[in-house]
Amino acid sequence: MLKNKDTLITDDPSRAASVLKKGGIVLFPTETVYGLGANSRNFQACLEIYKIKNRPADNPLIVHLSDPGEIPKIASMNAFARSLAAYCMPGPITFVLSKLDNSVFSTGLSTLAVRVPSHSTANEMLRAFGGPVSAPSANLSGQPSITRFSDAVSEFKGKVDLILKGPEPTIGLESTVIDLSGPKPRILRPGFWSFEDLKDLLPELEDFGPADTSSDEEKPMSPGTKYRHYAPDAIVFLAEEGVRPEADAAAIGIGLLPGWKYGLDLKDNAEYMRNLYSFFRDCDRQGITKIYCFPPLEGKGKEALLNRIQKAQDSGLA
Ligand code: TXA
Ligand code: MG
Repeated sequence: MLKNKDTLITDDPSRAASVLKKGGIVLFPTETVYGLGANSRNFQACLEIYKIKNRPADNPLIVHLSDPGEIPKIASMNAFARSLAAYCMPGPITFVLSKLDNSVFSTGLSTLAVRVPSHSTANEMLRAFGGPVSAPSANLSGQPSITRFSDAVSEFKGKVDLILKGPEPTIGLESTVIDLSGPKPRILRPGFWSFEDLKDLLPELEDFGPADTSSDEEKPMSPGTKYRHYAPDAIVFLAEEGVRPEADAAAIGIGLLPGWKYGLDLKDNAEYMRNLYSFFRDCDRQGITKIYCFPPLEGKGKEALLNRIQKAQDSGLA
């Protein structure tokens, strides 16, 4: 059992930075989801994150920086990374790049995932800290990421040293992860930025494969993708056309039919992304055991939403 911590709750990014400097763990908001951060150069602090989350040891962490100009200090930028950074950094995207040395925490891969959040509070914390911060999403391994301050407090008070308050995430799903370390760029996890959005900028771009095809023997492209993810306790279904309201089931979708006992009707894919995980949490709290997710609209956000819904409905993978 982890010992219970006194958790400081504050909206002051400089206090979060000093906790990081002392080797503490900080829960902080980003534009995508909340993160659980530690000084990337303090390996003991980084390992503590794995204990808090119960995260498999082979699933590497994303390194967060305050500015794209900091990336070359820890990883090698190449032509793909330079053009993509100019287009969408800071923002909800993570680059997998070759690492320079072993001074930053990693799980033994030759690459490092780096991200520069656009969230004002996260950015101020990173600037005040002045170095790399390793942070996975703030949730117990396998569960949906956290997108509301109230959930961050109820699930992590007592487990982390500090919870940083700031504007709530506006995106709601985790960053796009794109591998730029090989001969051809490849999307490993879709997010706000998808294959469709980036293929003109990176003509040789490859899309992520079908979810969870990697076997245990094979080294997965993105280690995290082999585990069950984003899943509430309730069973999740991708609803087929014509599914009617059912007693005791919940539903989320765009243009949802009335009649669901617990339904969330959204206006577009962006709102769907922003609300999916908090809806999963609310369903679990209400003891709902079956959730129907209706397909998102065509266009931006569709790929990421279908990816997360599919992962949430897969079971028994880890
Ligand atoms: O939006 C986000 O990305 C949030 C916020 C907090 O920044 N973070 C996040 O971290 O979602 P996490 O740990 O939940 O997901 C990181 C994903 C995992 O699937 C992991 O396997 C992959 O990135 N990853 C990390 N380092 C990698 C590397 N060197 N090569 C390939 N995949 C990597
Ligand atoms: Mg995660």
